[in-house]
Amino acid sequence: MAANNIVYVNECGLPLNAIEWLETHHLSKAPEREQMIRDLHLKPGSLVVDAGCGPGLWTSLLARAIGPRGRIIGVDISPEALVTAQRRSAGKWYLPRVQYKCATLEQLPIEPGTANIIFSANVSQYLPNPVDTFAAMGRYLVAGGRLAIKDIDFGTMRFHNMDAGLQARVFQARERLEQERLNQGYAFEDSWVGSQLAGYLREAGYEEVEEKSYPIVRRYPLSQDFRFYLQGIAEWFVCEGAPLLGSEDLTNWLRCFLDEVHSVLDQETFVSEETEYVVTGVWNKYPPAQVRYFDMQTYA
Ligand SMILES: C[S@@+](CC[C@H](N)C(=O)[O-])C[C@H]1O[C@@H](n2cnc3c(N)ncnc32)[C@H](O)[C@@H]1O
Repeated sequence: MAANNIVYVNECGLPLNAIEWLETHHLSKAPEREQMIRDLHLKPGSLVVDAGCGPGLWTSLLARAIGPRGRIIGVDISPEALVTAQRRSAGKWYLPRVQYKCATLEQLPIEPGTANIIFSANVSQYLPNPVDTFAAMGRYLVAGGRLAIKDIDFGTMRFHNMDAGLQARVFQARERLEQERLNQGYAFEDSWVGSQLAGYLREAGYEEVEEKSYPIVRRYPLSQDFRFYLQGIAEWFVCEGAPLLGSEDLTNWLRCFLDEVHSVLDQETFVSEETEYVVTGVWNKYPPAQVRYFDMQTYA
């Protein structure tokens, strides 16, 4: 098993972004992701921006929540992901209510002060300055609109039937590598971001910040999707040669997940646990157009 390649890189150079990987990841956590959208209590008829929409995996969930009078603008920097998202929507009832556009999170392709909610899943881990980006997104919200950021936090990952020391060494080596690899020209990545999000939203100027955590627990026997997801994650933890991990740990780690005979995934005692976070905040600042209107009213 090759462990020294970057796995699942898309054409924008971002790890864990390949479309097949994202689809499997989405399917493997479908019940929790459906619950995340239900918990947002989106209002029918809302204008939703799906910021960093990737291949459009959340579109159907968002569309169901906002109904036929709602609108979704999917935004991403990856043209390949946007083309896939567009294809996925083909023939669906919500197609006339959805547009996919190439743009960054900081410069959304909508008028300021128009979105009821900006939803962004699994993107904050790639933001080198999340506070600045979240603050920049605020101006696209109506006053009282919401930013909803969903992301992972690998600090919450545990495999119950595996050597705890080995897990700790692998996780620590990857966490340190994420900090050090920036100097080697790799793109920014923070896979431990989930539990930091509430603080980032507050610092960016959002009010009424709420954090919801979603434990994702899976036991033996695993679905094919979840098995593929875990094997991909296991490889990802030690990709780029795992320079901060001992070679014995590297071999043992890969054997645990990929060995055809001794994989921990095939043991009846297997349990995996991971928590994902959805953090929402309300933007109460007036968007630029409304500020001008307000000023005119006050000082005319
Ligand atoms: C891990 S994928 C998540 C895709 C989708 N939201 C999901 O959960 O399936 C991250 C996506 O964010 C996009 N992305 C990363 N940084 C971005 C930025 N600054 N502006 C817009 N899109 C960005 C990537 O191109 C990629 O499609």
